[in-house]
Amino acid sequence: MNGPEGGIEPWLVELRAKAPSRLELDTDVILVTTLWDLGTTGVTEIDGRLVAGFADRGQAQTAVGQLRSPVLDVTARPVTGSDTEPPATPPSPPTTVRFAVGETVRSISVVAGPTFGHGHHPTTRLALDLLGSALNRASDGRLLSDLRVLDVGTGSGVLAVAAARAGAGSVVAVDVDAACESVVATNAWNNGVEVEVMTGIIEAAIDSPVETPLDQPFDIVVANLLLVDQIAVADTVRRLLAPDAHLVLSGCLIDQADHLLRLHPGLDAERSLTSEDWIAHLLTGCR
Ligand SMILES: C[S@@+](CC[C@H](N)C(=O)[O-])C[C@H]1O[C@@H](n2cnc3c(N)ncnc32)[C@H](O)[C@@H]1O
Repeated sequence: MNGPEGGIEPWLVELRAKAPSRLELDTDVILVTTLWDLGTTGVTEIDGRLVAGFADRGQAQTAVGQLRSPVLDVTARPVTGSDTEPPATPPSPPTTVRFAVGETVRSISVVAGPTFGHGHHPTTRLALDLLGSALNRASDGRLLSDLRVLDVGTGSGVLAVAAARAGAGSVVAVDVDAACESVVATNAWNNGVEVEVMTGIIEAAIDSPVETPLDQPFDIVVANLLLVDQIAVADTVRRLLAPDAHLVLSGCLIDQADHLLRLHPGLDAERSLTSEDWIAHLLTGCR
């Protein structure tokens, strides 16, 4: 079908569980993976429904035929003015990533494409665990929606999207790799959250002559970077911390733990976690 400009009109396929208590659509990896296999341009969860974008009516109708099941209501319709079109997405299946903030366990779906960050690498897992702790501590006496979070070296945006999904009000993601911009946008869209993405090395981005989201300090900064990169960004990261901010550092080997801590002598080590050969720290305090 042709759209208003004479081009192909995108369509949406909507899936609703007939018995919602028995099927959690947004964490159903098989369902989400099937949608990707069928060629979706992006999947998100809206009010208990899974909504998947398709390039045209034909693909959407094929998907409806494949997905028809006794436990699902599946419908297709053209994108309307009130729908936001999903951004183009690298063709790799998503992974489901779970994380906890206090007692609340959440999940997000992540595509990594050409970037680092499918969510299950030990350094990412450690960073997610400590990001959950940081969000929990920072929201003690404050609203999550008042918190500003920065993800340095965002890759797929897995940590940034997790912070936004947890309810952080403002999330900024920076990576030197330009490929991250569309991948992070896709992952944010798929999870129904907003993340502001910047391309460039953080050390240069902070001194931009024009106004940027880095002009205001952050309550939480997370950086999953190799030690060599942690050394390069340490001074910049400290300049970005609000008073009493939380800093999550991951990406370093256990035998580099002390070196990593020495990069931030003014901050207190609150919690450290290890997994396989990797270590991550949660630091707190003034810059
Ligand atoms: C190990 S990956 C982490 C990806 C993701 N945050 C995660 O936890 O899975 C590190 C990322 O940091 C980026 N990076 C390294 N040094 C950087 C710098 N100085 N400024 C911005 N990005 C940087 C790399 O391009 C890479 O995407």
